[in-house]
Amino acid sequence: MEFKLLKNNTPLFNVFSELGQRIYLPDGIFHWSGRAKKEAEIIGTIGTAYGYEKDFIDGGLDNWAPLYLDSFKNYTNIDITSVVPYASIGGLQELRNIWKEWIIYKAGYKNKESRKTEQLERYITLPTVTQGITNGLFMVGSLFLNEGDFIISPNKRWGNYDNIFSKNLNAEIKSFDFFRNKQFNLEGFEQAIIEVAEKQEKILIILNFPNNPTGYTPLKSERDAIIQKLKETQKSIDKPIIIFVDDAYEPYVYNDNSIDHSIFYELMELDENIIPIKLDGISKELLAYGGRIGFVTIGLKPSWIQNEEELKQLKQEINNKLEGLNRSSISNTNHFYQAVTLKMFEEIGFEMIVQKREKNRNLLKNRYELINKELKKIENTEFSIDPNSGGFFLFVNLDYDKIKATEFADHLLKKYKVGVIPIEKPEININGIRIAYCSIDINDISEMVDRIHKAFNDF
Ligand SMILES: Cc1ncc(COP(=O)(O)O)c(C=O)c1O
Repeated sequence: MEFKLLKNNTPLFNVFSELGQRIYLPDGIFHWSGRAKKEAEIIGTIGTAYGYEKDFIDGGLDNWAPLYLDSFKNYTNIDITSVVPYASIGGLQELRNIWKEWIIYKAGYKNKESRKTEQLERYITLPTVTQGITNGLFMVGSLFLNEGDFIISPNKRWGNYDNIFSKNLNAEIKSFDFFRNKQFNLEGFEQAIIEVAEKQEKILIILNFPNNPTGYTPLKSERDAIIQKLKETQKSIDKPIIIFVDDAYEPYVYNDNSIDHSIFYELMELDENIIPIKLDGISKELLAYGGRIGFVTIGLKPSWIQNEEELKQLKQEINNKLEGLNRSSISNTNHFYQAVTLKMFEEIGFEMIVQKREKNRNLLKNRYELINKELKKIENTEFSIDPNSGGFFLFVNLDYDKIKATEFADHLLKKYKVGVIPIEKPEININGIRIAYCSIDINDISEMVDRIHKAFNDF
């Protein structure tokens, strides 16, 4: 593939990593087997063994089927052809289509604003299925980051970003203090962009709302200010800004003043060279962590294309790059969980899925309200809670000069039998504990906070 449009019409190719520029999906086995399915009378392409079911299963039928062990069938009522064969490299076509519709649905535009819906439909790529969001992060990281390149992130972030971007890809994370006066730290964010712009020709940013570990989700006013700041800064530095939008906890927002949908949608509306990449998946969103199904979806700019043909071609070029990355790393993603997810969407529908999830969301919301209420009672300047209104966690800051987070967590565990995660990184201004209230019985929350309070007093 020549990647003509990626090279000539978009800023993307130039800001890809060396790997991102190099990788492509050749017309290999999957291409020829796809063609053979449509064109051949006798198929000898793919390494999936087939036979007449009656020849390998007692009481089997006369049909041509993938060879399988009947035990597999005992554990599921999903058709065996959706369990044992490979899924396609980019994911099951129907699942990709339906997840795209799900992304559009999640924007919450409904039919009222059909122009926005239409824009999304046209300008987002078909989601590529990855092995959970973790694998999606590694994929987009590999696509854009060379060794030594910077990616900007708030200091309080999911620790695995450091594993993926720094330890694995050998890139550098440029941290900025997440909060200033209990609000998103716009100045720190801008400063980080300006500093990185002095070193490299592209700006990469990762944002995650609701956030792990803090639970922070921007107020609508903060979201607007972030967007405005991005627009202004992009203009002044005049370099493309790529934003990885990690939407792992997208539906879990518990406060009406906070954004009720991903910032991805507002970023999609920008004319500037600010390119959002959405990472979402079933782990938290559909409470199926072990399914390992994530999606990578790239937002395109209308100005990059002249006509329908170019739009189609550009999407194919991007798809080829992402499938090239999948093929060369995980090959393809778990077929069974893709099939289950697809079935659920097809048979239950979006509204019902949201409705079913609501009970779970309310459980978390009640815990969120109670734990915040209880923690507020601990009035001490050495103990402060970060702004939080969603997700699965919240974060309590401790005064590093007096209380080291790791020692405190140890004390809390040993003496008070309460387990939390300490995060102690003084070099980027973090010292505190992450409390995963998502996993605590609401009836234990007051007791837990009481023990934390005691542990704090007698530390
Ligand atoms: C912020 C964030 N992003 C991504 C992930 C990983 O998602 P997945 O399980 O789909 O790989 C997590 C999981 O803890 C997370 O907290």
